[in-house]
Amino acid sequence: MRRRLAELYERGPGEAPEAGGAEAGGRPGGGPANGTENGAGIGGVDVLAPRLARGVLLVTLASFLLITFLNILALGLSGPVEALGIGIMLLIAAIQLRHSATGADRAPTRLKAATLGAQAVLTYLPIVLFHANWGSMAGFLGASVLLLVPARKAWPLFGLIVLSMLVNPVLDGKGLLECVYMAESTMLCGIAVFGLTRLACMVHEVHAARGELARMAVANERLRFARDLHDVLGYSLSAITLKSELIHRLIPNNPRRAMEETAEVLTLSRQSLSDVRMVARGVRDMSLEQEISSVSSVLGSAELKLEIEASLGELNPQVDGVLATILREAVTNVLRHSKATTCRIEAVAQHGWARLCVINDGVDARYRDTCPNSGSGLRNMEQRLAAIGGTLSAGCGPDGRFQLLANAPLDPSRHLAVVDSGAAEEAV
Ligand SMILES: Nc1ncnc2c1ncn2[C@@H]1O[C@H](COP(=O)(O)OP(=O)(O)OP(=O)(O)O)[C@@H](O)[C@H]1O
Ligand SMILES: [Mg+2]
Repeated sequence: MRRRLAELYERGPGEAPEAGGAEAGGRPGGGPANGTENGAGIGGVDVLAPRLARGVLLVTLASFLLITFLNILALGLSGPVEALGIGIMLLIAAIQLRHSATGADRAPTRLKAATLGAQAVLTYLPIVLFHANWGSMAGFLGASVLLLVPARKAWPLFGLIVLSMLVNPVLDGKGLLECVYMAESTMLCGIAVFGLTRLACMVHEVHAARGELARMAVANERLRFARDLHDVLGYSLSAITLKSELIHRLIPNNPRRAMEETAEVLTLSRQSLSDVRMVARGVRDMSLEQEISSVSSVLGSAELKLEIEASLGELNPQVDGVLATILREAVTNVLRHSKATTCRIEAVAQHGWARLCVINDGVDARYRDTCPNSGSGLRNMEQRLAAIGGTLSAGCGPDGRFQLLANAPLDPSRHLAVVDSGAAEEAV
């Protein structure tokens, strides 16, 4: 009879939940990725902040260039000299844009040295022609140094660049106020361009990280859904099949018992319908106590000798839900993978831990259900337990019986806090 359970799974692999596939990154049901995953919802629409940050930076750069441009025009120099000044300014602007681009600091050191060197030459040589009116171009050089050179060397270099702007006014015999003005305007330009560039890069990084977090949340939700569906449908289908087969055999000789079993099948199918709805909504409250009584009825129909020892008392709802789900999958496995004649379920609490143990005999490779897309039940249980700080072990003992042992802390939040603080201390 139990052998036919395996056939049911084999007949309808397409109808079975493909938990394994989903965990491997597959798409349950093979449907198209939703808008959130392909980036339309995360990376495509909400791009205002990075654009705004970059826009503010560009406007600032343009404003400083415009000031220098007006200063050059104010000198009343010949057309070719003015054109030369504007050409150099545009070259500096192009180099600055490169230095202010996201990831410019990760460029090869040689390339950074070459572009910084070019910017330094283009910054200092024109001072011979334009004197103080070339002013803020040195600020761009300072910003580039802060952006590309490691901080330890960058800030002293930046200070040197600011001070170097005093040389020309001093040589020209300008007063103290004008000297201070030159140094101050260079510093202001450098700090503003550096600050706005870093801000734009940070906004870009935060935005990218947010997208990544949202994608991870979608993937986790998909895993949760696949796990829940696997556990809910695996058990319900096994139980319904088992009871239906029993009914089929009972009808000729014991129609009264067949009627009773039919009522249970109805209850089971209604329950699984409501479970599937709850899985879809993301809320699924299960209790170990209820689950024990439900599996007793199912295992009874399988004509197993069932021993139950349950003394857990009031459980934390999270632990209760996890242990109930584990019992479901453990019993599904008993039905699918063994020709058990006895099954023992122990659920006890001791020393701050809840212990659930399911032991069955009848482990026989011939009775093992090897339908495709299977093999994620034990892994799911392990993950569920790990999330609350618990552990799982499963396998055949020396007596040939299969034993599944789940241990979960009675107070998961306290247990996880202790584990976290231990890990933090070790890290220090
Ligand atoms: N109670 C059991 N009795 C005998 N063998 C078992 C029992 N439980 C698990 N096994 C063995 O462990 C294997 C892994 O079980 P697991 O629940 O992870 O996967 P599955 O039941 O084969 O597939 P799925 O749960 O994804 O539908 C099974 O294929 C079976 O060989
Ligand atoms: Mg299983």
